[in-house]
Amino acid sequence: MPRPVRIAASILSADFARLGEEVRAVDAAGADWIHLDIMDGHFVPNISMGPAVVKALRPHTAKPFDVHLMISPVDAYLDAFAAAGADTLTVHPEAGPHIHRSLQHIKALGKRAGVVLNPGTPAKMLDYLLELVDLVLVMSVNPGFGGQHFIDGQLKKIAAIRAMIDKAGRPIDLEVDGGVDAENARRCIEAGADALVAGTSVFRGGAAHYAANIAALRAT
Ligand code: DX5
Ligand code: ZN
Repeated sequence: MPRPVRIAASILSADFARLGEEVRAVDAAGADWIHLDIMDGHFVPNISMGPAVVKALRPHTAKPFDVHLMISPVDAYLDAFAAAGADTLTVHPEAGPHIHRSLQHIKALGKRAGVVLNPGTPAKMLDYLLELVDLVLVMSVNPGFGGQHFIDGQLKKIAAIRAMIDKAGRPIDLEVDGGVDAENARRCIEAGADALVAGTSVFRGGAAHYAANIAALRAT
């Protein structure tokens, strides 16, 4: 039975000089979620945006803000991103000493809690976390930059996590992030993903193309 697939537009590929307008454009073009990549130049080699930018964008759309935190140590910033308007806060197990505590903290803030696995991080990391999370994000590139090549080997991990989620028997989103395009989107969905992050493949060609770009990711 086909699952509905949510498209999370990563604004890392948007025009940073016109971010509000870009968020409104991908909202109108049919994106389900807005994916915000938060990078600190320490956990990952790139620097992107902080809570002030998330807060400034909040009035531009009613769509959920899917906030991917690539910052370390992460715990001290959870409150700020929650207050800025995040709906889901997703953290890497490597970004702090106590991933379970970080996820508990996010739930205590009343937000959806996500955990994200780097390409080298095994699915087994989730064994004692699934009971706490609303979303699992599988990185199909090493985090830090948009426009990288999709790592096919992660499809096996997506399938393994799909089985774990089905066994857990509660609603947990399974999202994929990195190098997702219209071709590999189908394979991600077949492996069990139900949410796809896309930056390059959504923003390619400018605003006139956003709706078709998003529709192409859904067509399986
Ligand atoms: C990479 C980010 C991704 C990135 C995806 O560290 O987590 O969300 O923006 O961009 P594309 O779709 O261009 O790979
Ligand atoms: Zn991301």
